[in-house]
Amino acid sequence: MSLTRCFLILCQFLLYTTVSSKKVCGRPPITEGIDESILKRVYEVGEEVTLTCEQGYLPSTSSPRRISCTGTGDWTPSDLACSPNMCPIPKPLQPLAMGRTEAPFKSILNFTCDDGYVMLGFNSSSCLHNGTWSNPPPMCKAVNCPLPRPPVDGRVVHDKKPFTGTNTIYGQGWAYECNPPKAPSYERGSCMADGTVSEPPTCRDVSCPVPTGIPNGVITFAVMREHRYKDTIKCL
Ligand SMILES: *[C@@H]1O[C@H](CO)[C@@H](O)[C@H](O)[C@H]1NC(C)=O
Ligand SMILES: *[C@@H]1O[C@H](CO)[C@@H](O)[C@H](O)[C@H]1NC(C)=O
Ligand SMILES: *[C@@H]1O[C@H](CO)[C@@H](O)[C@H](O)[C@H]1NC(C)=O
Repeated sequence: MSLTRCFLILCQFLLYTTVSSKKVCGRPPITEGIDESILKRVYEVGEEVTLTCEQGYLPSTSSPRRISCTGTGDWTPSDLACSPNMCPIPKPLQPLAMGRTEAPFKSILNFTCDDGYVMLGFNSSSCLHNGTWSNPPPMCKAVNCPLPRPPVDGRVVHDKKPFTGTNTIYGQGWAYECNPPKAPSYERGSCMADGTVSEPPTCRDVSCPVPTGIPNGVITFAVMREHRYKDTIKCL
């Protein structure tokens, strides 16, 4: 065990001394988009490498760049720069992309739908090497809710008229009405973002007391009585 470790350390030491005793070049310096897959870690003096752009990038110069390992252990300079292929951003999405009209290779667009909408399609798309997107943008479709149940002794009056269909969609609303003289415990309902609708209200008798203390006025009813739901009084 300890013998093996000593041996390994010795080997590393030997390797290190051999390498450092003779000039070599390390992996050439590269910038984004240059194909690294063909590069070795160590090169002999005089060895040459042709740098190329990897898939999805285009060279800034037409000829591939040959560089060589010099006697000082440095590489001759290269002026190869690789620029990424661009994917056009779909027009409707450009305002969301802060006005940009294209995005570089490997960009990812993430999509979300607003509350109350469900996504049909893929939630992301990436810019491929050939300048196309991996997925089309998704559609956002309004959530469906069931039809609201009417209150006992009452009905639902949809805002949308004429109302047809077996469900409602996010954003649609309705009023609850009760058979007079009853009043609903609440008057409005709508299809909510989570796809649910409210329970129907209860219809009950309500009465309001005779109004008092009207500033600068008097009440002129022939009969002073309690008022029922939706009764109005008028100030003259
Ligand atoms: C897109 O989503 C991926 C994974 O869900 C995440 O890693 C990435 O940061 C997101 N990009 C943006 C621009 O939000
Ligand atoms: C995107 O969809 C994938 C499955 O298609 C899912 O695993 C992932 O969580 C989703 N990401 C977001 C941000 O909704
Ligand atoms: C782009 O590349 C993708 C994936 O490799 C392929 O499916 C698609 O057909 C290519 N599109 C064009 C226009 O070449």
